[in-house]
Amino acid sequence: MISTSQVLERYQGAVPRYTSYPTAPQFKSGEGPDLLQEMFSCLDGREPVSVYVHIPFCDRLCWFCGCNTKHTNRYQPIENYMGYVVEELALLRKQMPGKQPISHLHLGGGSPSLLTMPDMFALRAALETVFDFDANTEVSVEIDPSDSNQEMLDGLKAIGITRASIGVQDFHPDVQKAINRPQTFADTARVVDQLRSIGVSSINMDALYGLPLQSEKRLLNTLKKCASLQPDRMALFGYAHVPWMKKHQQMIKQEDLASPAERFEHASKGSEYLKSAGYDAIGIDHFAKPTDSMAISAKNGTLHRNFQGYTTDNAKTMIGVGASSIGYFENGYIQNLVATGQYQASIKNGTLSADKGYRLTEDDRMRADFIERLMCDLCVDLAEMQQRHKQLFPVLLAEITAACRNDPLGLCKFENNMFMVPEEARAFTRIVASWFDAHFAPAKQKFSQAV
Ligand SMILES: C[S@@+](CC[C@H](N)C(=O)[O-])C[C@H]1O[C@@H](n2cnc3c(N)ncnc32)[C@H](O)[C@@H]1O
Ligand code: SF4
Repeated sequence: MISTSQVLERYQGAVPRYTSYPTAPQFKSGEGPDLLQEMFSCLDGREPVSVYVHIPFCDRLCWFCGCNTKHTNRYQPIENYMGYVVEELALLRKQMPGKQPISHLHLGGGSPSLLTMPDMFALRAALETVFDFDANTEVSVEIDPSDSNQEMLDGLKAIGITRASIGVQDFHPDVQKAINRPQTFADTARVVDQLRSIGVSSINMDALYGLPLQSEKRLLNTLKKCASLQPDRMALFGYAHVPWMKKHQQMIKQEDLASPAERFEHASKGSEYLKSAGYDAIGIDHFAKPTDSMAISAKNGTLHRNFQGYTTDNAKTMIGVGASSIGYFENGYIQNLVATGQYQASIKNGTLSADKGYRLTEDDRMRADFIERLMCDLCVDLAEMQQRHKQLFPVLLAEITAACRNDPLGLCKFENNMFMVPEEARAFTRIVASWFDAHFAPAKQKFSQAV
């Protein structure tokens, strides 16, 4: 039996969420443009790519928010920005060797759900000049239920939405007041109905633990209300409190936040509830109905993890569009300029805005593979690792042996050529992953709490 208090005491430091390896703080300024050209030369017009479009605007600012977004009361800045996104797609089209098949399109933010119908229509038309959509292309959109109106639904139809991810966080009014996010259950239920009425076949809901003034009871009530709407997937993220990076989080009072032990307790009870409600636990913070493609992928070891979290998307290339978007291909990562003003100025000059980048070494590739399998499956088949990373595998094996030797609390196991995080240590997977992160320097970098 793992002693949670001992784990929390021993590994107090913050660790990355490993939505990539290496993580974004390792990306280097100025490396993006060359990598982008290299990515274009790797496109063969046959293998489907994925596309992420970032919409960094919201019509309110939730104080807990860690996303790359800004508040606006007017639509004009969004309309202007969308003009640049369309322009960026035209630049991409000029530089790419030809049209590429697309398997996944993800619109994230910020709040893409506040785009008007004409802007969604224009975005889809621009995307279709660069990418070949077909009946199997998944189009997922992050939805803030407070944007719900006929315009939103028409816009979502125009972009061809097939999956929706709805932000809930917590339904208790006191918690909502402490995070500046009023959102009734009735409004949320109506949005779910509306989405289903326009043919959205798969719905995810996001809830958070560790929010100010949250209690176990409040969290469980939120999850019960979510489950009553029968989403196919649920995410239960730990609130990442990083006020040194996100100034608006300073509006959240430190004394209203749960202790690490309480956070852990809330997360465990939340997870137990969702499992009892018929969801499979996926990775560190996702849940899916056993018939959902994410649960099936998790069972057969083909789940992936990217900047959007857990995904069934297995495309090797992701093209990032919009300010701060991150793309990747076999040789590395490419991030667009983060500030919308700089991004727009670059596109206005007729230059793609790739800025930071990271070129993968062989060592990075092996660790990225290992950490992704650990975060997705909690278990890594070392015979397969040896097969895929022949020359460097002894380095990994030595580190695995050392990790097991230095693990008095039982967060990992090495048996029958499998390295694993036991089920009871699932919540601590990020900690184990960090032991294999050659770039991780806890003293220098600031990440969110491990649990
Ligand atoms: C881009 S946001 C959500 C989309 C939409 N704007 C909304 O709020 O409903 C995606 C998700 O990130 C999660 N998130 C945002 N800030 C976070 C933080 N500081 N810590 C953990 N998760 C966070 C929330 O659960 C949120 O639903
Ligand atoms: S949580 Fe969503 S709506 Fe709230 S500020 Fe962040 S991106 Fe915007």
